[in-house]
Amino acid sequence: MQKDLLCLYDLAKEDISNIFDKASYLKQKQKSGEEYHPLRGKTLGMIFEKPSTRTRVSFEVGAFQLGGSSVYLRWKDTQLGRGESISDTARVLSRYLDGIMIRTFSQETLEEFASSSDVPVINGLTDLYHPCQILADIFTVKEKRGTCDGLKAVYIGDGNNIAHSWINAALRLGFDLTLACPEGHFPDSFVMERAQRESESKIVNISDPYVAVKGADVISTDTWVSMGQEKEYRERIKAFKNFQVNENLIAASKKDVMVMHCLPAHRGEEITDAVMDGKNSVVFDQAENRLHIQKAVLDIFMAS
Ligand code: CP
Ligand code: NVA
Repeated sequence: MQKDLLCLYDLAKEDISNIFDKASYLKQKQKSGEEYHPLRGKTLGMIFEKPSTRTRVSFEVGAFQLGGSSVYLRWKDTQLGRGESISDTARVLSRYLDGIMIRTFSQETLEEFASSSDVPVINGLTDLYHPCQILADIFTVKEKRGTCDGLKAVYIGDGNNIAHSWINAALRLGFDLTLACPEGHFPDSFVMERAQRESESKIVNISDPYVAVKGADVISTDTWVSMGQEKEYRERIKAFKNFQVNENLIAASKKDVMVMHCLPAHRGEEITDAVMDGKNSVVFDQAENRLHIQKAVLDIFMAS
């Protein structure tokens, strides 16, 4: 197992299975009110350069439930905001903390931090990847469907961090993934081509969302305007208008297709109210599972 969790590409299929098994075990323990404190005496640092609801709260509550504590650090309020180097910061924080979760812009910043840190570093979202989210998403699929074997997953919308982590997950777990992303907003070509080259399953990008969703077990989407892209709002709304997950699109898929969204949703843009709140939606189970997955990640990467 790696020291850090920077992206799903770095994990083996067995590592991902272990995270799912642990999450399932911890979820059962929590539901039955049984205490379990593998992080007793340990502290997680959480550095945020972007806003967050789910990631911050699930990691913070998760660390507490496992008997540890956490420190929330807003990037700008630390000396990082005044130019202290990433490497010096990582070296200092490693002397106080037992693990560090970071949400930042570039994957390179995260990698630089991890390479100077003596303690595990966990990706809480970068512009390129959001591994903890997709672990929770696929854990949800497994809970509902039993297995990822034979899964046909579809991702509609922006070829962003969520799309990239779905691509890495399809590669590592061996399920089929069809993406429908508009011209100019395709997934990163390095991430996509590497997965296509190395995967035994089918990972493709097609232009028509209605063709993509045929026979799908899962339809996932995400915002059209990610954090940091606010200035592109107008042109993005135009570019993505035919890629909305709405009732017509769901009707073109399987009756029991699961609709997923990492949240926050922009209702009326990438997804409609009717679909978010409809019978196919599993978005709130997905959100809950962030907690159980985060606890599994902390237990596996930080406790031992
Ligand atoms: N899905 C997700 O990461 O949500 P937050 O931005 O609220 O953490
Ligand atoms: N793609 C979105 C995901 C938010 C959880 C963003 O980066 O803002």
